[in-house]
Amino acid sequence: KTKAFIFDLDGVIVDTAKFHFQAWKRLANGLGIDFDHEQNEQLKGVSRVNSLKKILEWGNTSVSEEEFIQLMDKKNEDYLTYVDAMDESEILPQVKEKLQLLKDNNIPIALGSASKNARRILDKINLTPFFDEIVDGTNVTKAKPDPEVFLVGAEKLGADPKDCVVFEDSIAGIQAANNAQMTSIGIGEQAVLHEADHTFQDFTEISDEFLIKLARI
Ligand code: G6P
Ligand code: MG
Repeated sequence: KTKAFIFDLDGVIVDTAKFHFQAWKRLANGLGIDFDHEQNEQLKGVSRVNSLKKILEWGNTSVSEEEFIQLMDKKNEDYLTYVDAMDESEILPQVKEKLQLLKDNNIPIALGSASKNARRILDKINLTPFFDEIVDGTNVTKAKPDPEVFLVGAEKLGADPKDCVVFEDSIAGIQAANNAQMTSIGIGEQAVLHEADHTFQDFTEISDEFLIKLARI
């Protein structure tokens, strides 16, 4: 028996933060609100609704419920123009190779993302066939650090949560994995993701041996 692996999408498989940044910045600036890279960092792993709430808070701005929905739609439309221009070249280094290694070893793989655009992105970069199950922003109601997205992934894969390994680039995502009693692997800065069980800068730092060892129960 092997463990099951669950991957976050944004920041783990692809670097979409740069596209979210462009779209949120355009929207915020249009409302007279400043938006910088540090603020964008704080939106990693945060749902679309909660991201807009934060931006409005930062700008001491409030809008009607109707305008809020229009703003979210506008941001997403803008973001999707970047998404629709994506192709396989956007896959972060060694991600496809590691997914292939897991597949070759019959290890179950799920996606666990807050994004409502996850399926569209996976299709654009041709990685959909690697995932046995996809859990995204359209399937869950509770945002990370709530463990819901990963627990649903484990259930769909038929795996015990403690037999799951999660790859995450956001603090909220690492906390969600830890809250689910799963093994958490941080992708990014060790100083930021210190709550993770293991941290790597990116997948080029993860050896095949380490992954296979991790997969053994
Ligand atoms: C990921 C990203 C966030 C994004 C969220 C929702 O967690 O890290 O920056 O806000 O997904 O994405 P969506 O594509 O549904 O707007
Ligand atoms: Mg992420």
